[in-house]
Amino acid sequence: MKPLVIRREEAGDVAAIRALTADAFRGAAHSDGTEHRVIDALRASGELPVSLVAELDGEVAGHVAFSPVSIPDGTAWWYGLGPLAVLPLRQSAGIGSALVRRGLDELRSLGAAGCVVLGDPAFYTRFGFAHDAALTFDGAPAEYFLALNFERVDGARPRGRVSYSRAFFVAKPGG
Ligand SMILES: CC(C)(COP(=O)(O)OP(=O)(O)OC[C@H]1O[C@@H](n2cnc3c(N)ncnc32)[C@H](O)[C@@H]1OP(=O)(O)O)[C@@H](O)C(=O)NCCC(=O)NCCS
Repeated sequence: MKPLVIRREEAGDVAAIRALTADAFRGAAHSDGTEHRVIDALRASGELPVSLVAELDGEVAGHVAFSPVSIPDGTAWWYGLGPLAVLPLRQSAGIGSALVRRGLDELRSLGAAGCVVLGDPAFYTRFGFAHDAALTFDGAPAEYFLALNFERVDGARPRGRVSYSRAFFVAKPGG
């Protein structure tokens, strides 16, 4: 078996990303079934500064997207992690973690100030994400909305209700 490769998405990966994301989220309790369409919409609107694939034995087995978020206090350079997906048969082998770690490294190298994620704390706290009462998100229990401040020298501590790109909504049926 060849080693796992984490790399930026290329044009030829688009169909595989769509398929593996739909596959991974199928049946997930927290899924609305639009995650693969969200990635397409983010790409179309130019809001996919970090989009990484995990390649294992020549197969695209996982993907993670990061897109800009807005915070009403005007704090800039914050991003949202997601969707994150790994092919069901390849889960629990470290691929999701490798994608998150590399993605956060890429964000830092782009000059990002921080990152939020809506997800299970049991998974995301291992990367340094933590609940931050100053940052809120509508539509999910507070303990599932997590933040990681990259603590830039000039970094402010953001406060307020975080909004994701419109691409997350246009991807919904009727959106
Ligand atoms: C979540 C997901 C991306 C993790 O990828 P992965 O390659 O399986 O994860 P890793 O192998 O790096 O890490 C496995 C660890 O994550 C935990 N984990 C996996 N999926 C989890 C989930 N949905 N919620 C909480 N913990 C999860 C495992 O229990 C394991 O924990 P351990 O190391 O303490 O044993 C993958 O399970 C997936 O695609 N799930 C369906 C889509 C999804 O839910 N995406 C995330 C939305 S926020």
